[in-house]
Amino acid sequence: MSGKLEGRVAVVTGGGGGIGAQICRTFAQQGAAVAVVDIQQEAAGQVAEAIRRSAGRAMAVACDVTDRDDVEQAADQVEQELGPLAIWVNNAGVSYILPFLECTEQIWDQTLEVNLKGAFLGCQAAIRRMAPRQDGVIINMSSQSGRVGNSHYAAYCASKFGIIGLTQSLAVEFAAQGIRVNAICPGVVPTPMWDTQIEDYARKRDLKAEEVMSYFESNIPMGRIGKAEDIAQAALFLASDEANYITGQALNVSGGAVMY
Ligand SMILES: NC(=O)c1ccc[n+]([C@@H]2O[C@H](COP(=O)([O-])OP(=O)(O)OC[C@H]3O[C@@H](n4cnc5c(N)ncnc54)[C@H](O)[C@@H]3O)[C@@H](O)[C@H]2O)c1
Repeated sequence: MSGKLEGRVAVVTGGGGGIGAQICRTFAQQGAAVAVVDIQQEAAGQVAEAIRRSAGRAMAVACDVTDRDDVEQAADQVEQELGPLAIWVNNAGVSYILPFLECTEQIWDQTLEVNLKGAFLGCQAAIRRMAPRQDGVIINMSSQSGRVGNSHYAAYCASKFGIIGLTQSLAVEFAAQGIRVNAICPGVVPTPMWDTQIEDYARKRDLKAEEVMSYFESNIPMGRIGKAEDIAQAALFLASDEANYITGQALNVSGGAVMY
């Protein structure tokens, strides 16, 4: 049985952990050759190695998505080793939860650099290579925080709202060149990102850290928090030919938590 992404070459930034690693595994299971791109070289190597052990095609690339040269070199390396780029997922991200007046310039800049500039550089690298072939798919990872603002989350929300503006603009600009550009807006998914910020979220809501996930659950119509697989399945759909007529969209994958 052939997979939905058979023979395609996909880049997934932030592929070394959390949601990105699951997207890498899902894409590889569906026949894609996957480049696991991450600033954490060892983590990327482990994800790629596990995919190869289960008979998939994968390579690891060390890359800081905020560095144009790194991103361009990664794209060149992927095309040399795996073939023409067909899918690029801008998933790498960072998140800090803290009162707005405690948000330093450094935290603001880092959040915007990784989450938004990283996607900008990734889109340029991808489109530069896809446009001459009149074919390609880009998926940008936004968030439910790209749909609705939230206290203690100004920098993150600004970056994720920005992702949707970037996505829509590129969808319009490159539709005629056969490139589809969409975003995904996940709800809460427990990943290493949450390990680092759960205490800060608990402080914001005056909860204990162990109460945070059940607090989220009680506010989600479907009654459960998300799984990385939920997001990876949405990415698979948007990357596949099943989504051939879909561009410029931001798909909520949050159990009904956000409906606009
Ligand atoms: N987990 C959630 O609840 C959630 C919800 C909505 C959106 N998101 C978004 O989904 C994406 C993945 O989140 P996650 O929860 O898997 O996070 P994570 O922290 O578990 O994984 C993020 C990955 O990005 C990599 N990364 C960070 N900075 C980088 C850089 N400069 N260059 C290259 N790689 C870099 C990290 O090394 C890590 O492997 C992010 O964009 C995040 O904002 C997550």
